[in-house]
Order: sequence, then structure tokens, then C-alpha cells
Amino acid sequence: MGKIITIKNNKGGVGKSTLSKNIAHGLAMLNYKVALITSDSQNDSLILLGGWFESNKGFKAFIQSNEDVRITIRENLDYYPIETDIFGINLKTKILSTFKNLKEKYDYIIVDCAPVFNTLNEIILEITDEIIVPIKLDKLSTAGITRLLEKAEGKKITQIVPNLFRKTKISIEYYKNLKDFFKDTGVLLSTPIPETVLEEQLSEKGKTIWETSSKKIEELQEIYGEILGGIING
Ligand SMILES: Nc1ncnc2c1ncn2[C@@H]1O[C@H](COP(=O)(O)OP(=O)(O)O)[C@@H](O)[C@H]1O
Ligand SMILES: [Mg+2]
Repeated sequence: MGKIITIKNNKGGVGKSTLSKNIAHGLAMLNYKVALITSDSQNDSLILLGGWFESNKGFKAFIQSNEDVRITIRENLDYYPIETDIFGINLKTKILSTFKNLKEKYDYIIVDCAPVFNTLNEIILEITDEIIVPIKLDKLSTAGITRLLEKAEGKKITQIVPNLFRKTKISIEYYKNLKDFFKDTGVLLSTPIPETVLEEQLSEKGKTIWETSSKKIEELQEIYGEILGGIING
């Protein structure tokens, strides 16, 4: 039975789609069968993987009539694109059975969760096994994370991943505070992922951090290794 892992933060631009592509591909490279799904109709994580989606046959068609909409984007990694107008229709039962089927077929279902309220996101948060939260090490993000923990889905948070890290005095201080805060909570706080032009270049080429031999990427691969370890051993 597969596990649903949702990458979630109500803020944009913190690295949800970037984490989704690197985590999903990392698990696929470890030979797990992985589905990457999004509730974001821009399908950013697909584009970041070098794919494209134009047709209007996406997740809605899949939910409603079980059409085969998946795009096999890497070995062991299927992307399920989403079209715009999935919202507002009473699809709950179908969405639930769709995820049940996916769990039978895949080891991990990674959800790149859009920061909006809609039926799909609500259901995803209800049924997800774990939530991974990328954050920036700044005042607003760290305030946001303590609020997120108080919500119902807060109990499902297994990992916090500081991303776009710049080694400033303030960021280091925020990291230290978070470390104290999450000590003994069971929530993993990963090593901060540095902000690096390498990630931008990879995104530009539609590649993941596992697809370059650049020596400088090793630091990122090590941190993502920590995150993958948390998922696999969790
Ligand atoms: N570690 C990083 N270093 C440099 N750029 C990054 C890093 N992580 C993400 N980015 C860039 O930041 C932008 C926002 O990331 P994205 O994953 O799209 O965030 P979100 O999905 O939360 O809106 C993208 O342009 C992405 O390429
Ligand atoms: Mg995104």
C-alpha cells in the first residue's frame, strides 16, 4: 500500500514544486514506483521535470472516467497533470477512490499542493499520510509554521525543510530557534537547502538534482538524501 506525501505551504515561491520534483525523482531512482500529482493547474513540477501539458485531459478525466492521463516522465515516475476546472464539482467519492487506486499501484504518491482552498486540496490534506513543509528562514515563514502546526493537518507534518537558505546572521538565528522548537517533537528539521544558481540552471533544463555530475551539487544531494531517508524510514 502506497503512501501519500504532500508538499505544502500556504506561501508561494518557497520551493514546493522544486522539492516535489527532486523528492519524487529521488524516490524513483531508488526503485520505488512514484506518482507525482499536483493540485496546481500550472503543472509547475511537470515543467520543472522538462515536460509539458496542453491537452485538457488531466486529473479530472482520470477521476471521472479513469482515463489514462499519466505522463511517464522518468523511469518509475509518472506525472498526473491537472486541468483548470476540477473545482466546485461534487467529486469527493471519486477522488477518494482514485487515490485508493493510486495507493495500490505506487509506493509513493507525491503531491505538489497548491496554496489554495478547494475540494481537491481539502481531500488531499484529509487523506495524506505525511506533510513536508518547505519554508524560508525569515520572520513570516517561521511565524506561519507555528500556526500551521496548530491546524488539524499539523499532526501530519513529518518534516520541515528550510529552502533558499542564505547564510545571514538572521537566517542562522531563525534556524537555531526552529531547531529548539522542534527538538523532541518527532518532526524532522532538515539541514537548510542553500539558494543556488545550480537549482535555477537545472530547472531551466528540466532536470533534477540527481541528473548532473557537477561537484557543487553534492551538498544539495546530501540534504535531499536526509529528506528521502526521513520518508523511507518514517
Ligand atoms: N534551493 C534553491 N536555489 C535556487 N533557486 C531555487 C531553490 N529552490 C527553488 N528555487 C527557485 O525558486 C522559485 C520558486 O520555487 P518553486 O518550487 O516554484 O516554489 P513554489 O512551488 O513554492 O511556488 C523557482 O524559480 C525555483 O527554481
Ligand atoms: Mg509551485
